[in-house]
Amino acid sequence: MADEYRVFNFSAGPSVLPEPVLRKCAAEMLNYEGTGESVMEMSHRSPEFQKIIDDAEANLRKLMNIPDNYYVMFLQGGATLQFSMVPINLMTGTGKADYIVAGQWGKKAWEEATKFGDARCVASSEADKYTYIPKVTKEDIRDDVDYVYICYNNTVFGTHYNELPDFGDHLLVADMSSCILSEEVDVNKFGLIYAGAQKNVAPAGMTIVIVRKDLVGKAPANTPIYLNYKTHAEKGSMYNTPPCYTIYVAGEVFKYLLANGGIPAMHEKDVRKAQKIYDYLDSSELFRGTVVKEDRSLMNIPFVTGDPELDKEFIAGAKERNMINLKGHRIAGGMRASVYNAFPEEGVDALIAYMKEFEAAHKK
Ligand SMILES: Cc1ncc(COP(=O)(O)O)c(C=O)c1O
Repeated sequence: MADEYRVFNFSAGPSVLPEPVLRKCAAEMLNYEGTGESVMEMSHRSPEFQKIIDDAEANLRKLMNIPDNYYVMFLQGGATLQFSMVPINLMTGTGKADYIVAGQWGKKAWEEATKFGDARCVASSEADKYTYIPKVTKEDIRDDVDYVYICYNNTVFGTHYNELPDFGDHLLVADMSSCILSEEVDVNKFGLIYAGAQKNVAPAGMTIVIVRKDLVGKAPANTPIYLNYKTHAEKGSMYNTPPCYTIYVAGEVFKYLLANGGIPAMHEKDVRKAQKIYDYLDSSELFRGTVVKEDRSLMNIPFVTGDPELDKEFIAGAKERNMINLKGHRIAGGMRASVYNAFPEEGVDALIAYMKEFEAAHKK
């Protein structure tokens, strides 16, 4: 059936969502739970939507074990707006923050933060094309910073903090856009975690912000109302019309994850999928992964042949085989397989089979 046509979608985001969730949303499109209306059409002030957002928050808290002394907010403006909101709201004590730059998103966050105070780049792997996470210890951090900033998983370059450094008592802020819900994290170790929805959570349009309650309310008085965490915290993410449909889909994804073993089960599958690809890359004579082994990401796996023309041929052939969005980010080149939670293991097997076929056809 034409409408059952599905490809293996390796997109880095927006990206693949769990098929049972898509089917449920489709089934509920015209008549959500007997209301006779779509969630797309529903007033955000209705009791039905209030339940949707309350359940979404409660289920995310359950999934991630988020303690009561943290707010969970569903905000707009993409993860990018957090590049500004984080310093505006948190760089308000000494006005200093230290950023570790392990990819282009971290670099953008740092550059944005320099507009609001003394944001320093402590270390960067840019000179080595972001092929690793710069190793930083608490001794490298200035004593009096308001926070230390990391990007936990670097979507473009495929690196990930496989071990969280000990930053001592420093407040830690992490961008988890491309790895949230793929691994267990101890929320208590962070002052603030944020993540754009469009990878492991939902369609684009919403950013999850998890912030320790005592950190909220410190923004300067002239902060635009919409950029102040306090505004959203006090109104349960409903100061104004929220991204209702995205919140609804996120809530369905959370329910689906809870019913299917939660984060531990996702992680086990994610490890298995990524390991298959890395094992093949490590044994291949044509393809190679571009990241140092200890910093490899489970979610975004970049690789190259070393010949840009061959890379192009590989990507075109993949498309013919219903494997799409394998082209690396425009600033990284080569290929990138993004294999988020909802990406099926059969897609990984299909990719490896095609890589083997391609390698055999291009033996030197
Ligand atoms: C790690 C990371 N941070 C931030 C962003 C920016 O997200 P948005 O497009 O939602 O602003 C992205 C987008 O891919 C990302 O991967």
